[in-house]
Order: sequence, then structure tokens, then C-alpha cells
Amino acid sequence: MQKKLVVFTGAGISAESGIPTFRDANGMWGKYDAMKLANVEGFEEDPQAVLDFYNARRKNLLEVQPNHAHLVLAELEKQYDVTIVTQNVDNLHERAGSNKVLHLHGELSKVTSSRNRLDSNCIKDYPLDVPIRLGDKAADGSQLRPYIVWFGEYVDNMDEATRFVKQADIFVVIGTSLVVYPAAGLVNYAKREIPKFLIDPNDIKGGLPMGYQHIKATAVEGVDELVKRLDELEK
Ligand code: OAD
Repeated sequence: MQKKLVVFTGAGISAESGIPTFRDANGMWGKYDAMKLANVEGFEEDPQAVLDFYNARRKNLLEVQPNHAHLVLAELEKQYDVTIVTQNVDNLHERAGSNKVLHLHGELSKVTSSRNRLDSNCIKDYPLDVPIRLGDKAADGSQLRPYIVWFGEYVDNMDEATRFVKQADIFVVIGTSLVVYPAAGLVNYAKREIPKFLIDPNDIKGGLPMGYQHIKATAVEGVDELVKRLDELEK
């Protein structure tokens, strides 16, 4: 039986692929207004601005590649039963070869209805090089929108993610500021006695959660140290 390794990732793991994070210097929410671009009222007020923002991010996804950190996590499936729980809306974990990826905040590669984001008849894959335009319709006749969780909307897969974290034998957190709830609360569900690692080059503003070993490095550097520490555990 393989050990259950659960990895919780945020924007920091994709930073070295060239996708900016949200709250670092040069972060997305320093340049753009989250209240306009990441909530339903913003979309109702200025849908074109919101579509432009996500169309640019969708197109950019075609220009970036998974980095060493994404690849090492995929590689760890040879040794562990790995589940990735990600706040990221990119597809770099999947493209690196990870097979079990739960997205909490949606996916840039999908679209849905602006009447009901969770209408399964309306959620579909949409080519990243095709912009979502005003007037494009979902299956229910409403304006098509990106399949992204905006502030105030229900987070996807939260119950399932919580279950995986509770059952983890090893838990790893990579590249998240741990300020956006409910996702950030996942760090509190890992069992007390299991090894817990957090990879981030910076201090966590709210403090390192209890029982975590901080690998203070970027994701690309930190995963090699993580693999060393995992190997130590097996000795
Ligand atoms: P943040 O931008 O809030 O945090 C990024 C974290 O990554 C910080 O702790 C950085 O120190 C760290 N970091 C920066 N560069 C790194 C690197 N090269 N390697 C590893 N870590 C690095 O991003 P998230 O925590 O992911 O939600 O943000 C959470 C949510 O807020 C996002 O999913 C998004 C945003 O609003 C939605 O859009 C719904």
C-alpha cells in the first residue's frame, strides 16, 4: 500500500513558469482590481473588462510550461499515492503528468453559464486560443463566462479536498499565502502526527501553521529538498 501524499498548491508553484502570483510585489492584485475582475458584480458591471482579463490569462497559459516543481510532484506518483489540491486555475499540474488534481478555484481551460456557474450542462472545455466574446452563449442561453470561482462563490471540491487532507500520511503545502478561505483552512485538517512540509521562499504572514517544517526556498529549489526529506522518512 502506497502512502497517501497530499500536496496543496497555490500561485507560488507556477511563479517560476512565468505566471505571476497575486499578492507578491508585481502580483496580479497589485496591478488589477480583484473586486472588479474576480466577482459577479464586477462581471455584471463590465463584462468586457472581465473577459479581457481572463482571455489574456487563458492565452498566456499556452505560452508557459510546467516547471521542475510540477514535474517532481508528478514523478512522486511512482512512490506515493499523490493527490494535488490546487488553488491554481492553470493546467500545469496536469500537463506535468499528475493524475489526481482537485481544482478549488476553477480552471481557465473551461467555460460555464453566467446564470449558474455550477450547471453541469453548461460546463465545458474551451480552447485556450479562442477568446470568450460578449454574445457567446452557454447551453442555457446565458452569456458564457470563464469557469473560475469568484469571491463570494462556492469553492469547488472543498469537501473532497478536506477528506483527502484528513486521510493524508504526508502533507505538503507549496506557494500559497494562506489568506484566502476556505481553501487556506485545509492546513488545519492534516493529522497532528504526520510529517507536514511547507515550501515558500518567504515567511508566511499569518505565521507558520503548527507542526510544519518550513523549506524556505522557491518551489523549484524546494522540491529537491522535499524529496531528500521524504527519502529520510523512508530510512
Ligand atoms: P498569493 O499570491 O496570495 O501567494 C503566493 C505565495 O507564493 C506567497 O506566499 C509567496 O511567498 C509564494 N511564492 C512566491 N514565489 C514563489 C516561488 N517561486 N516558489 C514558491 N512560492 C512562491 O497566491 P495564493 O495563495 O495562491 O483566487 O492565492 C490564493 C487565491 O487568491 C488564488 O487562488 C486566487 C487569489 O485571489 C481566485 O482567483 C479565486
